[in-house]
Amino acid sequence: MSDEQSQQPAAAYLEILNGALVGTRFPLGAETIIGRDDEDLPMKEGGIDLADTRVSRRHARIYIQRGRYYLEDCHSTNGTFLNTFRLQPGAPCVLREGSNVQVGRVHMRFRPTLNSAETSGDSNAAAPWASEIGLNEEIFDLSLTANPDASASQADISMLFCPVDLPEPEISVVLDAPAVVDALREAITDDEKASESDDLRRLRAMAQVSIGLGGEHDRESLFAKIMDFIFVIFPTAERAFVVLRDKESGEFKPSAASTREPSGEGEVLALSEAIVDEVVSQQRSILSNDAADDHRFDDHQSIRRLGIRSMMCAPLLVDNEVMGLIQIDTHRETHSFCEEDLQILTGIGAQVAIALKNFVLYEDIGHLFESFVTASVHAIEARDPTTAGHSFRVAEYSRHLATVVDQSGQKMLRDINFSRDQMRELRYAALLHDFGKVGVREHVLIKARKLYHSEMDVLEERFRYAYASLERQAYRELIDQHGELSPEEFKLRRGAMDKYLSREAAQLQRFMAMIKHANEPSVLDDEVTDDLRAVADFIFPGNDGEHVQLLTAPELDALTLARGSLTPEERLEIQSHVSHTFAFLSHIPWTASLSAVADIAHAHHEKLDGTGYPQGLVGDEIPVQSRIMAVADIFDALTAGDRPYKCSLGVDQALDILHHEASTGKVDPILVDVFIDSQGYQLFNQ
Ligand SMILES: [Fe+2]
Ligand SMILES: [Fe+2]
Repeated sequence: MSDEQSQQPAAAYLEILNGALVGTRFPLGAETIIGRDDEDLPMKEGGIDLADTRVSRRHARIYIQRGRYYLEDCHSTNGTFLNTFRLQPGAPCVLREGSNVQVGRVHMRFRPTLNSAETSGDSNAAAPWASEIGLNEEIFDLSLTANPDASASQADISMLFCPVDLPEPEISVVLDAPAVVDALREAITDDEKASESDDLRRLRAMAQVSIGLGGEHDRESLFAKIMDFIFVIFPTAERAFVVLRDKESGEFKPSAASTREPSGEGEVLALSEAIVDEVVSQQRSILSNDAADDHRFDDHQSIRRLGIRSMMCAPLLVDNEVMGLIQIDTHRETHSFCEEDLQILTGIGAQVAIALKNFVLYEDIGHLFESFVTASVHAIEARDPTTAGHSFRVAEYSRHLATVVDQSGQKMLRDINFSRDQMRELRYAALLHDFGKVGVREHVLIKARKLYHSEMDVLEERFRYAYASLERQAYRELIDQHGELSPEEFKLRRGAMDKYLSREAAQLQRFMAMIKHANEPSVLDDEVTDDLRAVADFIFPGNDGEHVQLLTAPELDALTLARGSLTPEERLEIQSHVSHTFAFLSHIPWTASLSAVADIAHAHHEKLDGTGYPQGLVGDEIPVQSRIMAVADIFDALTAGDRPYKCSLGVDQALDILHHEASTGKVDPILVDVFIDSQGYQLFNQ
């Protein structure tokens, strides 16, 4: 006996499962060749001759090594298959009990022993042969024995095995996944209801629950959908309702209810406190097959009064927290539901709970973000209290205008619509449109007049210095002449000096009045230039006798600003708030539905004719949301309460200015008309 034979655990064999040799068992030696006998190359003794033209003469071999049998393809023409998978030539695979070996058209099953009786005295002999995982031998047998005709057996087994000439396992079914999901979203038709089995209908409905819940973004539509599903999944259910725990009080309150028949709407909900308590505190799902005889309902007249016979109740359970419960019932008959129904309802309850939990998280994130936005707006408006409320009002005017535009049938507006997400996008853009003012120095931001307070203080101090210098010079001249003058002459000179100083003082006062007048932002440069030129030309002697100007060149420039209170540099700094806003908003990882917030806010100072800032966009380059916001922004800036640098205007004046801006190609004339026609300007009763 060879070493290898001594390793042989037991007599193993291959049993032919189809064809002419069906039922034949071929014992396996230390090495067994599977092939086709040929005159030129006769089959070795102990080999398995399959006499099949699709079998190579030396097709495959089975050999034993370290107590295990291996199957190896010997570079055959048509391949060797082990459990439907084609073997790599020369790469042995281990055989297990029940392994299916296919060579040519012939299928064989590997058995480690000849029969159980032969090995009954050696129970350990069969131990190494674990049954093949995933193979249903009975199905093989059925398919093979159903048609004993050898020529037809290939067709029979093709359902289970790959055709020999295909190198890869066959893919039987390919589905378009989105199409399948879409089909599942659709309601089941009456025809489908009639043709489907209960199990299939339930499976389909469960899949719909799963898909449907994922697409809902508010509780009402979620509950409506759940009710629809309930009546499909449980054909005998007549009523269904959802009870949720109130966040504040912790009490369980009905949140949604539905009846199969429309006539049942308005029925009193039969909610048993005992049931609620058991479902919630014990986290149990409950099925009552005959509520009339169920002692748990003894104290609950509503259930008896409604004649409820069968009911099921399941918790909305997620993360060990009961968010509520779902109950379905019927008064038609007892035993309407079974344990399997209760399992399904429990599964639905868990799905609803997850959806609700997601809503809560979604709402929490929403509230968190709203609070952040609100806090940001308050923070920026705190720097300039006179603009308090501006951002909120602009958001509200913009919302109003966008809503009217969305609903407008006007030719030019018909194609402009805003989804719910786009309305939110516009709102955030409007709320945060001026947030970039955090990047503008505060004294510039709130600059009320052409000269800052500190500059006016210096100026007034210089005026006092000028008068004191003039006075000192006059007295010094008088003292210098004192020894040369008689008392009368001195008195006359003194009187003349006093008059001179009074004139100078009066002139300085007049100059100061001019400056204060010119300092107002509403005063235009052509009103003040000549007067201020006289002030700027006024020279007085300094401490060391040098010439000092009463008004410096920068002060003159500031006081002769064409409009407003800002120098060109300061105006640029104020305008930079838009770029700061854009930079700030661009840092926020907006969701896809809010991705345009930064761009909308970025364009709120653009003008249709390209004269706006900071990008100088023209016409349609400016998003319509930004054009809407521009109308709102201008109107509120004009009509809001007095600001240090300007008085508020009446509504009529503000609308006139808006009209003027529209007629000169700055703002969208259609939007201005819509704003006026829809009386958007009355939103805050200004
Ligand atoms: Fe702005
Ligand atoms: Fe603004």
